Amino acid sequence: MKEIMNVIKSRRSIRSFSNEQIKQEELDVILEAGMYAPSAAGKQARYFTVIQDQQILDEISSEAKRVYRSMNVEFLQNLGSNERFDPFFHAPTVIVISGEINSIAPNSDCAVAAQNIMLAAEALQIGSCWISASAVITQTEEGKKIIEKLGLPEDYAPFNSIALGYKKTERHDVPPRREGVVNYIRNKQE
Ligand SMILES: Cc1cc2nc3c(=O)[nH]c(=O)nc-3n(C[C@H](O)[C@H](O)[C@H](O)COP(=O)(O)O)c2cc1C
Repeated sequence: MKEIMNVIKSRRSIRSFSNEQIKQEELDVILEAGMYAPSAAGKQARYFTVIQDQQILDEISSEAKRVYRSMNVEFLQNLGSNERFDPFFHAPTVIVISGEINSIAPNSDCAVAAQNIMLAAEALQIGSCWISASAVITQTEEGKKIIEKLGLPEDYAPFNSIALGYKKTERHDVPPRREGVVNYIRNKQE
């Protein structure tokens, strides 16, 4: 395992994966990391769906692309129209993170779990990328039918998903961080 700051600083979104499936022991660690993320009022109102079935990923992908084509954002329209674009980048494993829609802060609860998952993956040298596709399809009737197939608990919906797989290529191109984003407000010294 890598040391925590090294993991945080070396993680990058990986969008090119080996076909080889990740090991169950690695997946177990990654899921445990997600479950140990903080949650609003400690409710842990989250659900992790591990998808290693290409057919269901294809269904989510094709509906997400349909939504992208209908959006008023040019780069998403282009992605949605690109036959070769797979929103999951052919990752062998995708974890859909769902939250309880009526809970205090489901979006944040799912986001912190997602970050824990991506950091644990990086610590294991596994590539990861946050993918919005599973959340995007919650907006459409067709998308809702696909989500039903995930068997989520009642009143849960996907808020994000994480693509996982062994990295085809390493990324060391970490961009410099923005400056001037920290302000201290401290007691005045006497
Ligand atoms: C809320 C959120 C949504 C994102 N959605 C997507 C996505 O749908 N597809 C994708 O390829 N990357 C997605 N990303 C990954 C970002 O593009 C990526 O984190 C950003 O470009 C910075 O690169 P890095 O992760 O390598 O530091 C998302 C990230 C966040 C935080």
